[in-house]
Amino acid sequence: MEVPMPNIQPHADNAIVWHDEHLYLLDQRILPLQTEFIRLNTGDEVANAIRDMVVRGAPAIGITAAFGVVIAARSVWEKEGAGWKEAMAADLTTLAASRPTAVNLFWALERMQKVIAGLGAENPTPRLLAEAQAIHREDIAANRRLGDLGADLIAGPTSVITHCNAGALATGGYGTALGVIRSAFAAGKIKQVYADETRPWLQGSRLTAWELNQDEIPVTLLIDGAAASLMARGGIGWIIVGSDRIAANGDVANKIGTYGLAVAAKYHGVKVMVAAPTSTVDMSVATGADIPIEERAAAEVLGCGGKQLGTPGVDAWNPVFDVTPASMVDAIVTERGVVHRPNAEKMANLMTG
Ligand code: MRU
Repeated sequence: MEVPMPNIQPHADNAIVWHDEHLYLLDQRILPLQTEFIRLNTGDEVANAIRDMVVRGAPAIGITAAFGVVIAARSVWEKEGAGWKEAMAADLTTLAASRPTAVNLFWALERMQKVIAGLGAENPTPRLLAEAQAIHREDIAANRRLGDLGADLIAGPTSVITHCNAGALATGGYGTALGVIRSAFAAGKIKQVYADETRPWLQGSRLTAWELNQDEIPVTLLIDGAAASLMARGGIGWIIVGSDRIAANGDVANKIGTYGLAVAAKYHGVKVMVAAPTSTVDMSVATGADIPIEERAAAEVLGCGGKQLGTPGVDAWNPVFDVTPASMVDAIVTERGVVHRPNAEKMANLMTG
């Protein structure tokens, strides 16, 4: 039976929607000029949507994967009945293989697997759906809390630079770096946000600018290479970014270009804040050197908007994340508290305290 597309309001806080027993994603590949939702019907479709950047941003990837488990379990249970658990092992593997760097994906799948382990032959959908919705809800609450904690660190009024999109679109809602910016703006501490364009997917230009503009927070776009010159002019109080994975010693993996931004920030005496929920902290990796860094197709760099622009025959290197050493980070802000000048001991205290 054909299910009609619901009329969902295309807002950054509405990018992952469970509606009438279906998962809908706001297609982030075509924002902001087009606002379209896609309905996902199978675990494979959810994995493809994550890999192909329909949804992106560490917490959003984890939440989406959790709903992917619900969809996959529902379908195998309908087909296999009591043997559903064995039958869905392939879906779990496919979801886990969708993107390698954001640990929130593996964290969310682990939570879903724990629920699966506790289920029997009964219909798994209600329990799994409740868990996916809890993951979604908890992420929004974490962002609101860390947003306020991060805003407390900003003396203001000042201007800030952010990189990529660590906003509502990248999370369950409100955002991490943009959550801090939202809270700080509401407290009158932010004059201007500068958004790095973020080659090659233009998350800054297409997504961060769109969602800040929706909230009437003043935002100016920069090409990534202009950030150091802007810092040299003065008036930038903080660099505020999100993260895809934070190692046990406080090293931070985030969108390629974050490391360069932190180097420039140190030179110019600008502070660096990393805003992330504790679901982004991976205590099983000792340092950033152990974090797998995704490399995507050269075509993403050699072209733009599907059009080839680079020199034919010339290759491109396309790592999509980098690691900023803990020593270059002034504060890691999580929903459990702030870690100033992070190191292994302080990270362990945060995660166990
Ligand atoms: O490749 P993307 O768009 O998934 O990269 C996203 C980022 O690097 C974000 O900064 C990070 O996931 C934090 S999102 C709150």
